[in-house]
Amino acid sequence: MKKLILIALLTCSLQALADRLPMPANAPASFKSECSSCHIAYQPGLLAADDWRKLMAGLQDHFGSDATIDSKTGLEITNFLTRNAGDVSRLGSAGNPPRITQTQRFIRKHREVPAKFWRDPRVKSAANCEACHRGAANGNYGEHDIAIPELRE
Ligand code: HEC
Ligand code: HEC
Repeated sequence: MKKLILIALLTCSLQALADRLPMPANAPASFKSECSSCHIAYQPGLLAADDWRKLMAGLQDHFGSDATIDSKTGLEITNFLTRNAGDVSRLGSAGNPPRITQTQRFIRKHREVPAKFWRDPRVKSAANCEACHRGAANGNYGEHDIAIPELRE
C-alpha cells in the first residue's frame, strides 16, 4: 500500500516537472533587472548550460538588440543560468545563436499548435511565451494556464 502511494506521488511530481518551471529561489536581482525589460526573464531550465554561455557571450548583438551589461553583472547572471540550466539530453540543440524556441524540446511540445496561432499579430513571435501562457513569467506552462489569443474572444 505504502509503495502504491509512493508511486502515485512520483508520477504526479514528474508530470509537474514538465509544465512547471519555477524561477530558482537564488536568482540574483540583476537577472530580473537586466533580462526582463524586453521579454520575460526566461527560466534557466529552458536552455542548456553551453547555450546560455554562448548567448551571454554575444549580448552586444542580441537578436538585433544591444543588451550589453558590465562584465561583473554578466558573470553573475551567467553563473546563475548555467548552474540552473536544463539538461541538454532532454532539450536537444538550440541553434546558433541559441534560442529556446529552436530546441527540439520546444518544437516537440508545440508540434500540434496550428500555424495560424503563431501568425496572430498578438503573438508576433514564438519567443513571446506570455501571449499564450498567461503564467509564463511565473514558470506556469501547464494546460490550465494556456490562453491562445485567437481562441480568447
Ligand atoms: C534590449 C532588449 C533586450 C534585453 C535587455 C534582453 N533581451 Fe533577450 N531578446 C531580445 C530580443 C529582441 C529577442 C528576440 C525575440 C524574438 O525573436 O521575438 C531576445 C531573445 C532572447 C532569447 C531567445 C528567445 C527564443 O527565441 O527562444 C533568450 C534566451 C534571451 N533573449 C535571453 C536574454 C537574457 C538572459 C537577457 C539578460 C542578460 C536578455 N535576453 C536581455 C531583447 C532583449
Ligand atoms: C502561439 C501560442 C504559444 C506560444 C507563443 C508559446 N506556447 Fe508553449 N504551448 C502552447 C500550447 C497550445 C501548448 C500545449 C500544446 C499541446 O499540449 O499539444 C504549449 C505547451 C508548452 C509546454 C509544455 C507544457 C506541458 O504541459 O508539458 C511548455 C513547457 C511550453 N509550452 C513552453 C513555452 C515557452 C517557454 C514559450 C516561449 C519561449 C512558449 N511555450 C510559447 C502555446 C504557445
